[in-house]
Order: sequence, then C-alpha cells, then structure tokens
Amino acid sequence: MAVQKPIQITETVLRDAHQSLIATRMPTELMLPIVDKMDKVGYHSVECWGGATFDACLRFLKEDPWERLRKLRAGFKNTKLQMLFRGQNILGYRHYADDVVQYFVQKSIANGIDIIRIFDCLNDMRNLECAVKACNREKGHAQVALSYTLGDAYTLDYWTNIAKEIEEMGADSICIKDMAGLLVPYEATKLITAMKNATKLPIQLHTHYTSGVASMTYLKAVEAGVDVIDCAISPFALGTSQPATEVMVETFRGTPYDSGYDQNLLAEIADYFRPYREECLKTGLMDPKVLGVNIKTLIYQVPGGMLSNMVSQLKEQNASDKYEEVLKEIPRVRKDLGEPPLVTPSSQIVGTQAVLNVLMGERYKVATDQTKDLLSGKYGKTVKPFNPEVVKKVIGDAPVITCRPADLIPNELEKIESEMKQWKQQDEDVLTYALFPQVAVDFFKYRLAQQEKVDLKQADTKNAAYPV
Ligand code: CO
Repeated sequence: MAVQKPIQITETVLRDAHQSLIATRMPTELMLPIVDKMDKVGYHSVECWGGATFDACLRFLKEDPWERLRKLRAGFKNTKLQMLFRGQNILGYRHYADDVVQYFVQKSIANGIDIIRIFDCLNDMRNLECAVKACNREKGHAQVALSYTLGDAYTLDYWTNIAKEIEEMGADSICIKDMAGLLVPYEATKLITAMKNATKLPIQLHTHYTSGVASMTYLKAVEAGVDVIDCAISPFALGTSQPATEVMVETFRGTPYDSGYDQNLLAEIADYFRPYREECLKTGLMDPKVLGVNIKTLIYQVPGGMLSNMVSQLKEQNASDKYEEVLKEIPRVRKDLGEPPLVTPSSQIVGTQAVLNVLMGERYKVATDQTKDLLSGKYGKTVKPFNPEVVKKVIGDAPVITCRPADLIPNELEKIESEMKQWKQQDEDVLTYALFPQVAVDFFKYRLAQQEKVDLKQADTKNAAYPV
C-alpha cells in the first residue's frame, strides 16, 4: 500500500490557469498585490513563468518577461517558483543549439526560478538531456515531464521504463503531464502505483479539467501515493484549467493526506481573483465555452485545443461536413507518424495532416513541411516506427536523421548576440531575441520609446523646477 502523507500542491494561477482560460493575458501588475498572501499558504511551488507567458508578455502585454520574473521573485520570499520549458525548443518553436538552452536555464535560475519542468512532445529523452544537465549545474530542481497520452505503445511498461531513464538522467522529480485530461481515475491508480514502484523520484501529476474527471483522478492518484498535484485557485480553475485548489485541500482535510493549508487564506486569495474573472467574462477574454465539460476529448482522445483548431480549419475550407471523417483520420495519421503524444507541436502536425488527407481525397497527396520534418527525424525519435509507405510517399529518398536533432545545430549564441547588439540593455535580451526575433525587436523598440518618454518628462519637470 502507498505511503500516506500530506499532499503538496503547485498553484498554477499565475501560469497555466490563465494560459488555459484567458489566453495568457494576466498582466504582472495584477499578480503583484496578491503575492504576499500567496507566499503564506505553504504551496509546494507556484508555477508562474515559461509556457506561453514569455511570448504573451512581449507580444500582447508589452512587458519584459524577465522583469516579471524578478518582481515575482522579490515578492515570493518563501515559496519556490516554477516554470515550464519545452526541452530543446525552450519556449520557442524550433530546436535551439545547446549553448542557447544552457544560457536560458542559467538565466532563468539566476533571475529567480527554482523548479524547471522540462518536456518534449515526442517524449524523446535526448531532447531533454541538455536542459536537465544545465539545471543540475545551476543547482535548480530539474523536473522531467512526460507528455501523457493513450495508444498501443503507451503501456505501463512504457511509462515505468521511461521513469527509470529519467532517474538515470539526473532529474530531481517526474511529472506526468496530462495536457488533454485523458487520465481517468482508476487508470491513475494503476499508473501512479506502477510509477512509484519503478522510481524513488517524487511524482507530480498535472492535468486539466477539460473532460470533467480531473478532481477524481487526483483523488485516486493521491491515494496511490502521488507526491504533488497541480491546482488553480477557484476563480481560475475548472474547464480547460486545473481542479480548484480549495476543493482539493478540503477533500483531504482530516485525512493523512491533509495539506494543512489555511482555507481562510485561500478564500482571501480567491476573493482577490474573482473580480478579475468577472471582468474577463464581461470583456469576452474568458469564453464560457471553455468552462464546461468537453467529453469529446475522452471519446476521441485528442486535446480540446486540437479539436477546435480542426473545426476552424474545416470551416475556412467550407468543409465542416467532413468533421467526422477527419476525426477518424486523426488516429490513423498518428499511427503513421509513430504514435506521438498530441501536444504542441505534434498535435498541430497530426491535426493539419489529417485535415489535408481528407480534403485532398487522397492520403498524403499533400504533406506539410512539419510532417516532412517529423518523418525526417528532425523532431526526434517517436515511440513507434513510422509507416514506411508513408515515409516513401512523403519524403521519398530524402536524408533521414537518427541522431539527437540538436547535435546538428552548431552553437549560435554569439551569432544571435551580434544580430541584436543595438537593442541589448541586459544580458537576458539576447535570449528574448533568440526565442522570438521579430516580437522581441518590436518590444525593444517599444521599450526604447517608453524610456525616451520618461526622459522627456523628467527634463520637463527639471525645466519647470528651475525656470530660466
Ligand atoms: Co497544462
């Protein structure tokens, strides 16, 4: 039987919860006033950085993500800060050279991150190695996240073998990252029990409420010995976000799993975020549609976001009547492409290819560049081999790589820095530019204009104070 001990919680309201419910638009100034109270709860950690927050800060909020991190670090005096990191992609959309990955890890930790959760869309551990080692070197907590999915290849043996690999790699903990809410309660019992038997590393469970089973899944996972669960304070919980923090705390009260968190303090934190939720609903930033139960994700075993993408792709092509056909095509494409988990970017690759296969009336008559790259090994190794006929049809005799994709990328930090020198005001700017070159330059220009405005104002004040 699993050891019964107090459950620990990672609070996601400052990252995944608002990424899932309001397109990552929560500004730093809205976070800061509540930091003091959040710091008193005793959370295992607060997830507050990485994922889409970096891009959204620069692109939509005109904020420096590094500045956000430093401000949060200054406020959270006792709580560990956590971020989400996409392996060799870091937070961007391509594979980076190792020197960029290492420098990003170093700067994240130097600016205040304690725990880095690192994942790869194919669960190809070679794509995580560099980030994990860098995190070890910087004395951060390296958590490897497994992208959870269903399929023939994903047996309990698969998960437990990979858990052992992660332990050998030098990670400090493992996260099961169920981005689509596919892990149902009794499967969670089996999975967590097997994982706890396979590794000594702490296990954290991350899921989304999308399919409506998440709180029950946590209950069974906790009984099976999971160490940490990811929750969001109630105004930003449920729907496509996480189960509510207060609900899970209350569920385990008076049991050996009691977190001991102060429910009154949690209520005050919820009170703080509630008016913002109301405002987001009013402005339409929060769409009530994402707050309900989407049972289709369980039936078709695809993430909710992927389904809505597919619907809009079909609508654009005036082919909404092909919905059912595409739904049937998705698992077939996924099999052809080595049965990857469906998470960014593999979810888009499989989804778009399935739409094309149906619309063209012939499978793989047209293939996207991403499908070609995946079949050429440029994303890494899939759990199952590709369908050889599909490989032949899509890439013919083009070269295929089998090494770790980043082995073919020479160090690029110096080149990147020379490209953006004129904008550099802090070392971190080089990384901002490396990840999102165009968006970064727009932001740097904006920042400069703001600074010039302030200078002008100060000059004005001086003139006013000392009239000639
Ligand atoms: Co998530």
